[in-house]
Amino acid sequence: MSEEPTLVVSKIRNGTVIDHIPAGKAMDILNVLGINGREGLRIAILMNVESKKLGRKDIIKIEGKRLSPEDLNVIALLAPSATINIIEDFAVVEKHKVLLPNIIVGVLKCPNPTCITNKRGEFVKTRFRLISRDPVKLQCEYCGNVVSGDEVTKLIAKRR
Ligand code: CTP
Ligand code: ZN
Repeated sequence: MSEEPTLVVSKIRNGTVIDHIPAGKAMDILNVLGINGREGLRIAILMNVESKKLGRKDIIKIEGKRLSPEDLNVIALLAPSATINIIEDFAVVEKHKVLLPNIIVGVLKCPNPTCITNKRGEFVKTRFRLISRDPVKLQCEYCGNVVSGDEVTKLIAKRR
């Protein structure tokens, strides 16, 4: 008789489950969402667990939390494979894949110091155009700077 190890993590009653996150990215996502645990939200973070689709994946379960459209853009940048599940009264009432929009406003900082979006006293929201989805590549609409790969993670402005 085989003793299959099972992963037991509570279902949540109301909130959001971010599933199919590439293995190892859960902490980056929580970071850029500005969630550190001191909000008092009940959160389960599963890292490097088995996945049929991805081999290994991370999952984040946040009780009592809905994500904003900006939050979803940030998740799409870090984890293009992620699925967002909205849970109500223990049931999955909504499930969708994150999708990067063609224009991303106000989420990333431009790495070019002379870019207008970095001028002191000016409050110009950054605007990046998606020029490649996989791997993610974005171009600043103001100065033409192109950012890609790990650089993207570093340029996401930490919010809240
Ligand atoms: N989940 C949860 N609490 C609930 C319902 C679901 O934490 N009350 C979690 C599940 O553990 C799973 C995710 O939300 O990680 C999606 O649930 P479900 O759609 O039931 O799972 P799958 O069919 O395996 O999802 P998929 O087809 O997207 O892989
Ligand atoms: Zn720029």
